[in-house]
Amino acid sequence: MTPPGRPLFAVTSRVPARAVEVLRQAGEVRIDERETAIPRHDLLELVAGAGAILTLLGDRVDEELLEAAGPQLRCVANVAVGYDNVDVEAAAKRGVVVTNTPGVLDDATADLTMALILAATRRIVEGDRLVRSGRDWNWGMGFMLGSSLQGRTLGIVGLGGIGKWVAQRARAFGMQVAYHQRNPAPPEVEAALGAERLPLERLLAEADVVSLHCPLTPETHHLIGAPQLEAMKPSAVLVNAARGPIVDEAALATALAEGKIAAAGLDVYEREPEVEPRLLELDNVVLVPHLGSATVETRTAMAELAARNAISVLSGQGPLTPVPSQ
Ligand code: 8YV
Repeated sequence: MTPPGRPLFAVTSRVPARAVEVLRQAGEVRIDERETAIPRHDLLELVAGAGAILTLLGDRVDEELLEAAGPQLRCVANVAVGYDNVDVEAAAKRGVVVTNTPGVLDDATADLTMALILAATRRIVEGDRLVRSGRDWNWGMGFMLGSSLQGRTLGIVGLGGIGKWVAQRARAFGMQVAYHQRNPAPPEVEAALGAERLPLERLLAEADVVSLHCPLTPETHHLIGAPQLEAMKPSAVLVNAARGPIVDEAALATALAEGKIAAAGLDVYEREPEVEPRLLELDNVVLVPHLGSATVETRTAMAELAARNAISVLSGQGPLTPVPSQ
């Protein structure tokens, strides 16, 4: 039982200790400590009676979950910048504030994006596989050539927090930056990055590396499918560290197998943790398991920000970082 006056925070997964400490100063904490994803039935039980819930991207926050939590629920604090797992409208109807964790993961995700760009263009993982295989390899002028970044164009889809930091890093590698998004970026951002806004078709046709940093919404679902892959250069590389369903994974596997594009680097998948089986057979795609924000410092900052959001809402001071559509 929660003592009267002490709010209950439900935490759906193990999170960095710092966040739990912060929550314990403000109320009672009920946490599911297992490493694997919490089964739905247990999730619905865990949230019952909570004033705020800290959720991860795998936790579907819908009518059923909001109902299971009960009428005292005030805040869903998603420990992620993306919140496509949350039915924001259903939450708003019940007066439940939804928050996310923008900003604190920009650098880590931009670093991971650059790692994917470099790994895909310089065949790092393919090279690692070759060395480990024990097969003979002979250094020669034409051996395992990749492509340079200097002077090439990076096409960013979504010049938000993460996209901007990817652009800045790419500039340090000598790349030009173009971007696509619905609204233009502020002129000072465009000027600082030397970034030109292009319609998607032009960006796809001109970019040497296309990197996706937009949120997953009904409009961006399968934004990159067979026609868009066809529009890219045969030498181009596609990188996705945003959300899997932005790319039609089956169409990507076909495009990579048929040489419609040269390579890809993926951190996210349409049906995580499943991956399109044909991608696993290809050498020209680098696959990592949703590691964008996976540094100790970043995960700690994300969990602490989520905890502070939950406390701030319950104490009546309002959210620190509400999701944009609210
Ligand atoms: C997180 C992410 O690791 O923030 C996001 O949207 O995709 C990742 O940074 C993940 O969502 C944790 O729940």
